[in-house]
Amino acid sequence: PGVIHMDITIYGKGVCIDDWPGYSLDLFTYPQHYYEDLDYVLIPHGIIVDRTECLAKGIMQDIGDNNIVVLCVLKGGYKFCADLVEHIKTLIRNSERSISVKVDFVRLKSYHNDQSTQDMQIIGGDDLSKLTGKDIIGTGRTMKALLNNIDKYKPKMIKVASLLVKRTSQPDGYRPDYYGFEIPNLFVVGYALDYNEHFRDLNHICVINDNGKGKYEV
Ligand code: HPA
Ligand code: MG
Repeated sequence: PGVIHMDITIYGKGVCIDDWPGYSLDLFTYPQHYYEDLDYVLIPHGIIVDRTECLAKGIMQDIGDNNIVVLCVLKGGYKFCADLVEHIKTLIRNSERSISVKVDFVRLKSYHNDQSTQDMQIIGGDDLSKLTGKDIIGTGRTMKALLNNIDKYKPKMIKVASLLVKRTSQPDGYRPDYYGFEIPNLFVVGYALDYNEHFRDLNHICVINDNGKGKYEV
């Protein structure tokens, strides 16, 4: 017991987590109200933040002297977005560059329990209302639809950063420009990711157990 050896491969731009049994929950602190509800820690909070710093560095190398408008996809993306923006701001402050950073938000919802549903809801982002009611399933398609909508504003450059990429059996070919970790096709919670609105207040990215699924099922 103790620290488990982590079997990871660095793939080009992301860290691939494969056949990784996770960390024991005993090694970390987490909210008491989730003590019975989790299986293991997949990615500890500190590693998420460190990896995000590296993504920020890559983004700032690619951005040139362009100002940045960050479009944060709520709610699950708020922690990653906040940490990424903080790292970007630090890099700008410590450079000779004059780059402004603005942040906007859009909210998408397509999950019921741990299943992706057909009807994706878009809340907020008036200009994106055209998307409402379309059948968009899975992050790849959601992102493609969102990008089509943004394209009409003819931004100079669009880059997509995602903390996680899931290895699904039907990859639809979409890859973000920057990603933190490639994970197996597991339902994960924490670091703003929810299961029916629960677990967003968990710092680490974890896998829930059957007890947790049952307890918060709707
Ligand atoms: N967890 C929480 N929300 C999600 C996930 C997940 O694994 N995949 C898509 N939305
Ligand atoms: Mg959700």
